[in-house]
Amino acid sequence: MILVVGGTGRLGVRLTSDLAAAGQPVRVMARGHSQPLPEQGPDGVEIVRGNLSSMSDCKLAVDGCEQVVFAASGFGLRRGGTPRSVDRDGALRLLETAKSGGVEHLVMMSMHGAAADAPLEFLRMKFAAEEALKSSGLAWTTIRMGANLEQFVASMSQPLKTKGYVLVFGSGSTPVTFTSTADAAALVGRALSDQALRGRTVEWGSGTHSLNAVAAAILRHAGGGSIKRIPVPALHVMSVGARPFSPFMARMAAAALWMESGAAAFDSVAQRRAFPDIPVSGLEESLDPRP
Ligand SMILES: NC(=O)c1ccc[n+]([C@@H]2O[C@H](COP(=O)([O-])OP(=O)(O)OC[C@H]3O[C@@H](n4cnc5c(N)ncnc54)[C@H](OP(=O)(O)O)[C@@H]3O)[C@@H](O)[C@H]2O)c1
Repeated sequence: MILVVGGTGRLGVRLTSDLAAAGQPVRVMARGHSQPLPEQGPDGVEIVRGNLSSMSDCKLAVDGCEQVVFAASGFGLRRGGTPRSVDRDGALRLLETAKSGGVEHLVMMSMHGAAADAPLEFLRMKFAAEEALKSSGLAWTTIRMGANLEQFVASMSQPLKTKGYVLVFGSGSTPVTFTSTADAAALVGRALSDQALRGRTVEWGSGTHSLNAVAAAILRHAGGGSIKRIPVPALHVMSVGARPFSPFMARMAAAALWMESGAAAFDSVAQRRAFPDIPVSGLEESLDPRP
């Protein structure tokens, strides 16, 4: 049995469906808080309602599982979790129960730029979870993704239907390396089945684009519209000023500034060459993602 924690999220849904289609028994753990949690999963998929903040929920979820994928996140939550409480503390709780519950291998979803001294709290929390996994005694694989491509396309496109524009944070001219959900799910599938990926950190990018290029692709696909920009000085104000009333908005603004700095771009070509069977989805495919 493979446990996918955060199995109702963007990556979790795709991964769960790929694993079930391949005949793997899968268990999904989530709270049914930010995403709906079905009472019953499709064939081969067990559903466990559980919160990473609860040791007993984590214990129940890992029970009988050989492998676990940590695909939960507090980064995009408007309430009910933060990178600190989910990506670090939740991951640490899960690690502890996985170890005592006899789990063999854990795949940790992390992000390019994770480091103890990273400028974003999210990246510092991811690094803490990576380090804890490495010293846990479990077999491990860490996958560092770029920013999720479909998530960006969806959030930039959101105002298009009602207001006729796509939203670009900052100048939009800095390159950003994105990872497509489908590619990340395929890589996790590979990490679950291939012993060669154990004890390794793999950094995975599907493609590097500026936000202006993403916006242009969205507008081409939609057949028209304009671009509305949130200027860099406004992002600086938001990243600090929004903290007391919307930590979510403050996180988004800080992440946009990090991207503006150029730190979100990386060379993913060499890693991709080592896994020629993993698909590489382009920007155009992300405009019509598989449901
Ligand atoms: N999106 C990105 O750009 C990006 C980039 C790099 C790395 N990653 C990492 O890749 C993984 C997948 O990301 P994603 O974008 O697919 O995530 P997502 O869509 O935001 O989904 C997050 C999932 O975590 C669950 N969750 C949140 N808090 C929880 C808690 N306390 N207990 C149990 N489940 C909880 C959510 O369901 P409920 O809220 O209903 O519980 C949901 O299923 C995450 O680990 C993320 O940090 C993402």
